[in-house]
Amino acid sequence: MSLLTSPHRDGKIQRMAIAHPQSIPFTGGLPLIGQTFDYQRSAFDFYWRIYRRHGEVSRSTLLFRPVYNLLGPDANEKVLLNHAGIFSSKVAWEELLHALFPGGLMLRDGAEHRMHRRLMQGAFSHESLQSYHVSMDAAIDRTLDHWPVGQPVLFLDLVKALTLDIATQVFMGEAPGAVANDLKQDFVDMVQASVAIVRLNWPFLSYGKGIAGRQRLVRYFADRVPAKRASQDGDLFARLAQAKDEAGQHFSDEDVVNHMIFMMMAAHDTTTSTLSSVARVLAEHPEWQSRLREEMMALPGPLSFADLARMPLADQVMREALRMYAPVPTLPRFATESFEFKGHVIPARSLVALSPLVSHYLPDIWTDPMRFDPERFAPHRAEDRRHRFAWIPFGGGVHKCIGMHFAENQVKLILHHLLRRFEWRLAGPSPGEVKWIPICHPGDALPVVLRKTAQL
Ligand code: HEM
Repeated sequence: MSLLTSPHRDGKIQRMAIAHPQSIPFTGGLPLIGQTFDYQRSAFDFYWRIYRRHGEVSRSTLLFRPVYNLLGPDANEKVLLNHAGIFSSKVAWEELLHALFPGGLMLRDGAEHRMHRRLMQGAFSHESLQSYHVSMDAAIDRTLDHWPVGQPVLFLDLVKALTLDIATQVFMGEAPGAVANDLKQDFVDMVQASVAIVRLNWPFLSYGKGIAGRQRLVRYFADRVPAKRASQDGDLFARLAQAKDEAGQHFSDEDVVNHMIFMMMAAHDTTTSTLSSVARVLAEHPEWQSRLREEMMALPGPLSFADLARMPLADQVMREALRMYAPVPTLPRFATESFEFKGHVIPARSLVALSPLVSHYLPDIWTDPMRFDPERFAPHRAEDRRHRFAWIPFGGGVHKCIGMHFAENQVKLILHHLLRRFEWRLAGPSPGEVKWIPICHPGDALPVVLRKTAQL
């Protein structure tokens, strides 16, 4: 605030207070790269350090450029709701994802985004989710038969392979076999490439392998779009190829291909991350593992689609795991115009970063936030309702995850199979470090020992 003098209507001079933007605190770091390494080491520690020191608004340098950190539920609400239409998801994500995942839904803004999202919505309708449920159930059952028991195994690796199997069968409608294996490898190479630091398209570098993988996947999907459009298939690929707008127009072949490749990426590591976090908290809290197993045992297999709504404890545990270990640590947006937030003016053409890692641990929202306490999500406590943008593992606003219900169903269905079939404990004395970048995951891949349950 500054005090100025201004002539009042009656001619007397009056002192008047006007607001001046406060200067935005800079969080420091090395020249050019700023705090990139801090962020990479632990996004959680990075955000909490700057939040404690500077509060809801600060400016950092990350990867050679200024980033405005807007932390907390009010910031999430302002930016994700985007009432002024000035926050671009496209520009913010494109820098990271365009070369490998062009044309994805998150890489579109405004009317174009609305049109694509509306057309895509059919592939996530109640009826579509119900049909995926049936093929998913069979795929999970087949895969878990081969999980080794009685010896340390890396849970992350097992579950990654499982979710990839599900993706090739349920997303693409490709039966297990050599073609499916090649597709999975191409996809893994692409994801690997998306986090490569050296971005040169040379065949022996991970970036070059990712580009080659993309080219093969593009060919695979492009060759099959016409047949999928004419088919009676119920997989996600067929539903996207067949989707029509009000004027009866389909997505172009190129759009179907790009959406499919983007969706595989958006779905795979996030769901794998969630399942690993749930497995970790259940290994650390065997009493909850037993409670959940009882809940699952009361629902005999094969689980019906309606049964997914009858597992309140699994629901609470999943939400709590997503609170503590949000898969996507940063939601970036590009501000096309300057805007004001909490007394600060953020300039036009700025990169803005939101993070669930702060709002998911704020003590004025969450009781004892460091504690694993799934009942905070029970209806009688509903701590997430204290601010509608406090719990944002799936984002919010128009870009809120379109696959949220698909992912929740998949996690619950896999838990149903896992808990009825196995008990598990950590292979070591304590769980390893959590890595937050690029997607939250156990740094040691979560070594556990599985044991067959007595009940089956
Ligand atoms: C637990 C699993 C998942 C988590 C935590 C998650 C998280 C997110 C988040 C945070 C966003 C918003 C990003 C932003 O606003 O910048 C998002 C968007 C998106 N997600 Fe998910 N996701 C998950 C699973 C899935 C699945 C299974 C699919 C597809 C089957 C999917 C497809 C998408 C798509 C297409 C978008 C872009 C939406 C848009 O721009 O309108 N996600 N997801």
